[in-house]
Amino acid sequence: MTTLPLLQIRNVSVWFPVAVAWQLRARRHVKAVDGVSLELDVGQTLGIVGESGCGKTTLARTIVGLERPTAGDVVFNRTGPRYSLVQMVFQDPLASLNPRMAVIDILTEGLLAHDLIRSGGVREAALGLLADVGMDADALLRYPHEFSGGQRQRIGIARALALKPALIVCDEAVSMLDVSVRVQILNLLRDLQARHGMAYLFIAHDLGVVRYIADRIAVMYMGQIVEQGPAEVVLRQPSHPYTMALRASAPDPFRKEQAPFVLAGDVPSPTDPPPGCRFHTRCPYVIDMCRSAKPPLEPVAARSAACVSAACWRKDELACGPLPATSMPAR
Ligand SMILES: Nc1ncnc2c1ncn2[C@@H]1O[C@H](COP(=O)(O)OP(=O)(O)O)[C@@H](O)[C@H]1O
Ligand SMILES: [Mg+2]
Repeated sequence: MTTLPLLQIRNVSVWFPVAVAWQLRARRHVKAVDGVSLELDVGQTLGIVGESGCGKTTLARTIVGLERPTAGDVVFNRTGPRYSLVQMVFQDPLASLNPRMAVIDILTEGLLAHDLIRSGGVREAALGLLADVGMDADALLRYPHEFSGGQRQRIGIARALALKPALIVCDEAVSMLDVSVRVQILNLLRDLQARHGMAYLFIAHDLGVVRYIADRIAVMYMGQIVEQGPAEVVLRQPSHPYTMALRASAPDPFRKEQAPFVLAGDVPSPTDPPPGCRFHTRCPYVIDMCRSAKPPLEPVAARSAACVSAACWRKDELACGPLPATSMPAR
């Protein structure tokens, strides 16, 4: 018997209409997410990486139900109200916590709204949540601005935990924190997962952070998944030129060899994506067919044991070693 994944994202697109003053009749869309399929197992951590603007937040908001897919489905193979399926931790803890509410109210608002506790149980519930994220009782009656960034993010995590969701979506949840605090929060998230068994969808532009926390990883470029597989394999031996470029662009003081190439040029406009492979305008390995035909996301032969897929016409050659560049990307 095979168990169903917790979450299945099936061919999801989220397009936003854009109004262009001189072209009111022309229907143009920002294709923020464009045909994404993903699966996430119970208790697993899936990392999503990609440059700013590639659609990570829109995908996250769609999973949580804050955005409606233009096409495709988000399916949870669990019964229960939405709040018990998924909660979100946001990038900016200060902006996402109500400045006029004390911590005790922030943490228990959802529990009271859904009748999961009575008013007599508020203090005990809040204390339990604070203990879970390594904070003590004197935080209860304080307000968000009285805490450091790291502590505020602990409160944001405790708020997400309150409703015992099967999945927590963390959208750049550690990006605004100091490096030392970042590791503490990542360790806390790992700890909480070991204790409570929830899955994470962990969005970050920092590859090191994703590698630290994720079991699997999906790399996004212009609203689409270009490579996915076990985080360790994809980041150590990328098969898609975009993943190679992301890795090469990440500073790594221990990397001795010269990066094969560094990502150059700008991301094309998401209202008017390039035909064929969307990455072809920036890819040093581009061949004619990349300009006209869209490569499907398919298993990479040399990484079949690890179940890595990539959407590149040259993935099987690239996975076997460096290739000579066919073009110099624009600087
Ligand atoms: N509500 C919206 N209306 C119009 N365009 C949007 C909206 N939200 C996001 N976008 C656009 O969709 C694209 C993806 O954005 P986003 O999901 O925030 O990317 P990321 O989180 O990867 O930086 C961007 O081009 C962004 O400008
Ligand atoms: Mg974002």
